[in-house]
Amino acid sequence: MRIDKVTVADNNVWLVGDDQRVVIVDASHDAPAILAAAGGRKIDGIVCTHGHTGHVNAAIALADASAAPVALHPADRPLWDALHPGRPPDIELGHGDVLQMGGTLLQVWHSPGHSPGSVCLHLAEAGVLFSGDTLRKGGPGPAGEPPGDFATLIESLRRLLLYIPPATVVHPGHGGSTTVADESPHVDEWTRRRR
Ligand SMILES: [Fe+2]
Repeated sequence: MRIDKVTVADNNVWLVGDDQRVVIVDASHDAPAILAAAGGRKIDGIVCTHGHTGHVNAAIALADASAAPVALHPADRPLWDALHPGRPPDIELGHGDVLQMGGTLLQVWHSPGHSPGSVCLHLAEAGVLFSGDTLRKGGPGPAGEPPGDFATLIESLRRLLLYIPPATVVHPGHGGSTTVADESPHVDEWTRRRR
């Protein structure tokens, strides 16, 4: 298994796969840069952790260049539709779904709060969680802008950090990586400071 990262502006795009195929986690800003990182491998899917602009704005260009389906949780369709009217995603993500893409199995965790349709993707075989903007190094992503909701986000994080094994490496949508063990002791602190 191979996990590659491309950082475009301040967004992390993750590519998971092997030498033949790959799944792309988040479609940020620059389709040619992401295609270059895929390096001619077959793109099995483009999975968006949520519908905010910097995570979906290259999705159509990537899909058109690769014929790969785009996946998004339906609760973020209003965000998606504002950016890509008349071009719905191909796959609706649901909590517990297992995506067989890039030669791996990615389990979908619906983790609303940063946005209603935010998801994390658990790659259990590698001990990795792609957390989008739900969890970053040092705390959750912001929930200050509607339709984000902080109480919902904390609830999602408590559930997530309870079930995902502590040794799991967390690869977020922004910034450096962390682990579940490093972040989980701080949930009460985040709850108090409300960010
Ligand atoms: Fe976001």
